[in-house]
Amino acid sequence: MNEMEKEVQHLLGTRTDTLIFPEWVAHGIEFITAAFVAAVVLITLTVLVLFVIDITQRRNAIRHNYPVLGRFRYIFSKAGEFFRQYFFAMDREEMPFNRAERTWVERAANGVDNTIAFGSTKNLNVEGTPIFLNCPFPAAGVESAKTVPLEIGPHCRHPYRAPSIFNISGMSFGALSAPAVQALSRGAKMAGCWLNTGEGGLTKHHLAGGCDLVFQIGTAKYGVRHPDGRLSEERLREIAARPEVKLFEIKLSQGAKPGKGGILPAAKISPEVAATRGIRQGEDSISPNRHAEIGSVQQLLDFIGRVRRVTGKPVGFKTVIGSGDWLDELCREISSRGIESAPDFITVDGGDGGTGAAPMPLMDNVGLPLREALPLAADMLEKHGLKQRIRLIASGKLITPANVAWALCAGADFVNAARGFMFALGCIQALKCNKNICPTGITTHNPRLQAGLDPAVKSVRVANYYRGIVYEVEMIAHSCGVPEPRALCRCHVRIVGGDGLSRPMDEIYPPAGCLQGGDEDAV
Ligand SMILES: Cc1cc2nc3c(=O)[nH]c(=O)nc-3n(C[C@H](O)[C@H](O)[C@H](O)COP(=O)(O)O)c2cc1C
Ligand code: SF4
Repeated sequence: MNEMEKEVQHLLGTRTDTLIFPEWVAHGIEFITAAFVAAVVLITLTVLVLFVIDITQRRNAIRHNYPVLGRFRYIFSKAGEFFRQYFFAMDREEMPFNRAERTWVERAANGVDNTIAFGSTKNLNVEGTPIFLNCPFPAAGVESAKTVPLEIGPHCRHPYRAPSIFNISGMSFGALSAPAVQALSRGAKMAGCWLNTGEGGLTKHHLAGGCDLVFQIGTAKYGVRHPDGRLSEERLREIAARPEVKLFEIKLSQGAKPGKGGILPAAKISPEVAATRGIRQGEDSISPNRHAEIGSVQQLLDFIGRVRRVTGKPVGFKTVIGSGDWLDELCREISSRGIESAPDFITVDGGDGGTGAAPMPLMDNVGLPLREALPLAADMLEKHGLKQRIRLIASGKLITPANVAWALCAGADFVNAARGFMFALGCIQALKCNKNICPTGITTHNPRLQAGLDPAVKSVRVANYYRGIVYEVEMIAHSCGVPEPRALCRCHVRIVGGDGLSRPMDEIYPPAGCLQGGDEDAV
């Protein structure tokens, strides 16, 4: 026994040449050894099988040329989606919404203090950034300029006095889950704003909270169609008879997929969705790319008039704008038919709008983004003297107070948000809305995943988010020295250009000038 062995013997108090273990330890070691050998054999076999599969296949060059190793490229790029969001992306980097924007919504939805410390982290040299022009002497003793209601559809049997500048944009039942729609409905009621049904029809979930509703007539006319796809006036009348339904919106197109109808992947067509829409399960639900009845501005006005006659309620349309020429033609046609023939509102959706599912080229590159489409539409209405008659509703990435205030400056009367309210519901921007595997239960019909979305809890978040937006828009308006948010106009904002310097918005988009606010007597 050498010196070291003696030392060990001393420390252990036993003989080192014949260490005695209890029997269970020996069995444990044997088991671990066997498991290790089995794992090595299994991994080797798996690698061999994958190697043979990769080298013999011809569909994928990377996997063929780098068998097994090539697979890691796909695993890492998939995993990267998640890791980037959590560890690597900077606060202002991600698309479509960066972490700073999502965090703002999250805090507003939680109803917690939304002030930040030390200083702005926003790069104010980025092209397109709005800089509002504060008034040197804002009204004393108040912090916000209160919003006043605004009437839509003065010539209808039932005009709508809309209480809120900020509302929930169309998202169909089908794209959204039942608990998500219920939470939005209850949240909208608490907040006092409207909820647009989207093109999937009206369901008991939309009615759950008793909020004001905008019924959207999509190109497939789900909920108001004859079996042959034509508009059912009888069904329309039934829906209009509901006191909650305040407006009817004819969907011509939406920003994420102009020229294409709605797409609801087969995976998301539950029995309830199929029954509501009158479609079959097991196949994608594709709406026509336009209304059969509407192929010109004349037919658009005819159809608006027909829906208004049947329902007695204000009727407008939603569109994404490409060329403004047809809007010009529409305005001229209205002038020749008379002001009553006009749509009661137009919803302009930015080409960068969201969706449950759409092809990438349409989503990315077709249709003007809202920053161009909105001033164009507002100016067109102004030019034809229709700005007071036709209310302008804007949607497209308007999920924070500054963006909403920008839209009001550009000429919007109302702002709609879809994805902002999805964040309020708990959306984590996992971008799986079309797969029926939404981890937050918002866009899935899988009951297990829906279980985490409690409408009672989330509706409070929806209302909190709404209040956060409205309060801070009113705060911007107050800071600019106007009596209410709709009195904001282009002279109140400068837009940062490519050289990093800002220019007045009314210089970039003349000559709309100051637009009038809401009904001053209606506070
Ligand atoms: C899940 C989802 C479903 C949608 N469904 C509809 C729809 O049925 N009808 C419609 O006109 N727009 C639909 N949209 C578009 C939104 O109403 C809105 O115009 C667009 O997302 C831009 O607003 P945002 O940037 O606030 O999301 C949907 C959007 C999302 C995200
Ligand atoms: S969490 Fe992901 S899948 Fe669910 S709604 Fe949000 S973006 Fe869509």
